[in-house]
Amino acid sequence: MPRPIEALVHPQALAHNLGRARAAAPDARIWAVVKANAYGHGIARVFEGLRGADGFALLDLAEAELLRSLDWRGPILLLEGAFEPRDLELCSRLNLWHVVHCQQQVDWLAAHKTQQPHRVFLKMNSGMNRLGFTPAAFRSAWVRLNALPQVDEISLMTHFSDADGARGVDHQLTTFAAATHDLPGERSLSNSAAILRHGINEAIRNDWVRAGIMSYGSAPDFPAHDIHHWGLQPTMTLRSRLIATQQLQPGDTVGYGSSYRAREAQRIGIVACGYADGYPRHAGTDTPVLVNGVRTGTVGRVSMDMLAVDLTPVPQADVGSEVTLWGRGPALDGRPAVLAIDDVARAAGTIGYELMCAVAPRVPMRCLD
Ligand SMILES: Cc1ncc(COP(=O)(O)O)c(C=O)c1O
Repeated sequence: MPRPIEALVHPQALAHNLGRARAAAPDARIWAVVKANAYGHGIARVFEGLRGADGFALLDLAEAELLRSLDWRGPILLLEGAFEPRDLELCSRLNLWHVVHCQQQVDWLAAHKTQQPHRVFLKMNSGMNRLGFTPAAFRSAWVRLNALPQVDEISLMTHFSDADGARGVDHQLTTFAAATHDLPGERSLSNSAAILRHGINEAIRNDWVRAGIMSYGSAPDFPAHDIHHWGLQPTMTLRSRLIATQQLQPGDTVGYGSSYRAREAQRIGIVACGYADGYPRHAGTDTPVLVNGVRTGTVGRVSMDMLAVDLTPVPQADVGSEVTLWGRGPALDGRPAVLAIDDVARAAGTIGYELMCAVAPRVPMRCLD
């Protein structure tokens, strides 16, 4: 028998979350952002759930090829554009739309031989200082692109640094609007946090929104808001089983470094899940976990293949009991138990994005609704 750990991807929850993006941005078309192998879920596994999107946005050319092999004929956008001139050949062959964020990419396009003019998204650095032309250089990049026979339609794009927080989007919007107000073309501005928090901002003209993390059942502005607030459902469950139990006496310690010491008699369970499965090693004692659907916490340090959980709230648990590390647990009193990935991430000092991307290759993953 293989180790009892597995990860489940929930297609109906993906479709539900996509519906939340549609409801929040009803006039926009939606890019389902599937970079990083669909935020760790697997592009092929999320395809059915997200195929109601208007297009898929990603970075990796191999991932774009995979989508075409799944027979997706709609738009695909390369969010970082070409990494070298040769990539443009694949864009021509597979009809990939691509971001143009720097002068070199314009030069490569100018030298590219193609019968098929490319749809490009010209990216502005409106304050994030990651990718994009400065507002001052944006117009001349647009003029140059517009004169190229290799270029078809030019859309305008930027990315917000603080859509999830107090600073918000206004400072970048003002910069973007000032530099683009008289340029034609569709606009693509919002990520998940902007879709949910700034969706009704009249100043945002958004022809294409880019829904990433919200599609995967994580709140982009957690802990200010959680998935229940935004009506999102978990799309990934990481689950395993108890492979042993231990009865602790007062003063007994648990795991490496003896970082946890029992104050009273306590029963704990040992779970087949560790940091080599992608569970965060920095998750300290009391990181939430479900045993048989009942919420409890971890105890002691996470080791490579195992972690320990407190069985006090679930005394009937024993070897073989189901443990939900995040996602959907077994139903309790007819209601499905849910442990949001954001709750686990916070206890480990990280974000849901990182946990879902980090599930290790040794963990089998499959779709289940
Ligand atoms: C350019 C761009 N657009 C959209 C997204 C999606 O962001 P989120 O997952 O926060 O919705 C990302 C992700 O980092 C991105 O880099």
